[in-house]
Amino acid sequence: MSATPPAPVPRHIAIIMDGNGRWAQQRGWPRIKGHEAGAESVQAVVRACRDAGVEYLTLYAFSVENWRRPREEISGLMRLLEHFLDRNEDELHENEIRLRVIGRLADLPKLIQRRLAKTSAATADYHRGNLILALSYGGRAELVDAMRGIAGKVAAGELKPDAIDEATVAAHLYAPDVPDPDLMVRTSGELRLSNFLLWQLSYAEWYVTDVLWPDFREADLHAAIDAYGRRKRRYGAVS
Ligand code: IPE
Ligand code: IPE
Ligand code: MG
Repeated sequence: MSATPPAPVPRHIAIIMDGNGRWAQQRGWPRIKGHEAGAESVQAVVRACRDAGVEYLTLYAFSVENWRRPREEISGLMRLLEHFLDRNEDELHENEIRLRVIGRLADLPKLIQRRLAKTSAATADYHRGNLILALSYGGRAELVDAMRGIAGKVAAGELKPDAIDEATVAAHLYAPDVPDPDLMVRTSGELRLSNFLLWQLSYAEWYVTDVLWPDFREADLHAAIDAYGRRKRRYGAVS
């Protein structure tokens, strides 16, 4: 009997971590408690991805639209982000995981910007894994920023409009060297993209679970990876 090949593990998983507020609400707790529990899920999922051999993990942590939330919730989330970096920096070094950030970072509090820049620089040479945090991120904002970059080159005479192709656009995104996600996970059952990675997700497989983000742990990640392993990716062709 020949051995069956191992199910393919996605090289890049992107997650819309949703449902923190509802998780807290179900318990009669303030929303920030849900975000705190969600930070535990982040830690668990980063470890599970490392163990499963997932090379890139992108986490949607704060969208451009999330600035519309109450001021106390926003400052609570920023505090949690700082706390998360404090608690996990050693582990990033131990596991040689590179931290990267995508989004309109200039909108974040200065202290957070500095902290993110410091940890990103300190882990920049690692290649065993990549943790990409989407912060003040919007898919449309990213495309607008890319178009500004491209238009600037055209205006400077460095690029001809006819020479612009998909590779040109991809090269002007926030993390141009990162391969497109193979698998997109959304927790809490919502069936929408909420302005996440509009360009990069064009051929990703989707996995939506009703599990709320604070309850999403290693076993849930494995269920998503297993489901991915059973998909047939056709990219428009016949197979
Ligand atoms: C996701 O959980 C976390 C962020 C968007 C920062 P939510 O806060 O959106 O939780 P729900 O969707 O209100 O339950
Ligand atoms: C998407 O969740 C953004 C993040 C997970 C950071 P939201 O809860 O903000 O999205 P909507 O409002 O349900 O679309
Ligand atoms: Mg939500």
